[in-house]
Amino acid sequence: MNSSSVAMIKSMSISPGMPSSSSSFSSSQSLSTPSPPSTSLPLRTIPGSYGWPLLGPISDRLDYFWFQGPETFFKKRIEKHKSTVFRTNMPPTWPFFLGVNPNVIAVLDCKSFSHLFDMEVVEKKNTLIGDFMPSVKFTGDTRVCAYLDTSEPLHAQVKNFAIDILKRSSKVWVTELLSNLDILFDTIETKLSQSDSVSYLFPLQKCLFDFLSKSITGADPKMDPHIAESGHTILDRWLALQILPTVSIRVLQPLEEIFLHSFAYPSFLIGGDYKKLYKFVEKEGKEMVERGQTEYGLSKEETIHNLLFVLGFNAFGGFSVFLPSLINTIASDKTGLQQKLRNEVKEKVGSSRLSFDSVKSLELVQSVVYETLRLNPPVPLQYARARRDFQLSSHDSVFEIKKGELLCGYQPQVMRDPKVFDDPETFKAERFTGEKGSDLLSYLYWSNGPQTGSPAEFNKQCAGKDYVTLTASMIVAYVFQRYESITGTSSSITAVEKAK
Ligand code: HEM
Repeated sequence: MNSSSVAMIKSMSISPGMPSSSSSFSSSQSLSTPSPPSTSLPLRTIPGSYGWPLLGPISDRLDYFWFQGPETFFKKRIEKHKSTVFRTNMPPTWPFFLGVNPNVIAVLDCKSFSHLFDMEVVEKKNTLIGDFMPSVKFTGDTRVCAYLDTSEPLHAQVKNFAIDILKRSSKVWVTELLSNLDILFDTIETKLSQSDSVSYLFPLQKCLFDFLSKSITGADPKMDPHIAESGHTILDRWLALQILPTVSIRVLQPLEEIFLHSFAYPSFLIGGDYKKLYKFVEKEGKEMVERGQTEYGLSKEETIHNLLFVLGFNAFGGFSVFLPSLINTIASDKTGLQQKLRNEVKEKVGSSRLSFDSVKSLELVQSVVYETLRLNPPVPLQYARARRDFQLSSHDSVFEIKKGELLCGYQPQVMRDPKVFDDPETFKAERFTGEKGSDLLSYLYWSNGPQTGSPAEFNKQCAGKDYVTLTASMIVAYVFQRYESITGTSSSITAVEKAK
């Protein structure tokens, strides 16, 4: 997209539905700040239907998980309805999710999707993974931050606590990340000397758990041998039990439909191990736990369950999905990208110790991180419920939304919006470089807000947004300080050539 088309999209009011003057949106969010729907666009009835009771939802569910898969599911319906906004059903559904309403309005272009960030017109109470919510027993009967709407006072308390933790831990964050990367890549090298291919997923997750636990909760896994050994696998099971009914694995049909997507898993399957993590944070993360209570007015239980959710679901879960796709992008590249990245790292930071500041000077490294997030957003689905009746705009039409209706955005589709991104299906390493590239950051939505926005108590943008992109950039810089080249996929490394 050239700069004039960026300007054109902006003037088309890409972000709809301006909050009223009483809203507390900050100026740094202006690009995501919705504006009134353009009156020049035609009003259109939302196409699509929910089908017959039970049959409509089950048919959509089978398409989503089995016959089409998520990508084709959304693409086919855009073609059928000739609209990026339409009615459909999203799993989980019948037979054992009777209390879950699968009816949604899909919003699948940058303009309609951005309504999900406008807290004046939508609410996010219990909508993290749609109308389905895993039992609060997974988090000790506490409704944690990600399930709270901005209108609930507890949201501001916990969100500010999360933002504060990150600010305070920024020095520990870098030290812990770098020392755990040393351990990870030493392990990979040792294994590579004995085998042609090394699966890195579990070593990577162990590295993530150790570094994130220390940085986010202040608790050092080394102090508890059981947690040091199995903290990351406990989190894997805890995460899987909560989200399996909504996730497409696409390997075991029809067993997947029968056993993974038909009922919610009970929390007691992980209760004992979760309690061990709770005790670990209570004991070893004492300072952080006291801070939540004294500075943010949270109870001890609220503090620990929220710390565990931020650690396990948000941070560990997010990075466990994102980093393999980033490593795959770089390690499987055959276009000369590695050489360009290595040159930039050598030129700008050499062999000096990495810091967030030094990483900010790596324009290409950061662009590769952004482009990977664009094509493979780690949290593909976002939901929000209409707080009141309002008009929602796509690029070509305006639609009436009624209070209580659930909006559903599928980012892998939205981030390929051809009206915003040139050649949207192609990975372009340099896409986010230069002035044109930084303009495009306003439309990069992986964090539940634009990359140019800031997380705050009055929005639902990811609290760790900047830490995620800087950490990923630091990992890329670390790799090219250590290696001339690296070969592998999203699950294994097959060769490394040491830096000269
Ligand atoms: C690759 C890693 C990560 C990804 C992909 C990611 C993505 C997201 C997304 C999409 C949301 C919004 C969910 C929704 O409401 O629909 C979110 C929320 C959140 N994230 Fe992240 N995140 C990551 C890492 C982190 C880290 C490292 C932290 C903090 C240490 C963090 C803290 C949070 C919190 C507290 C929320 C809830 C915000 C609120 O309720 O206002 N995340 N994240």
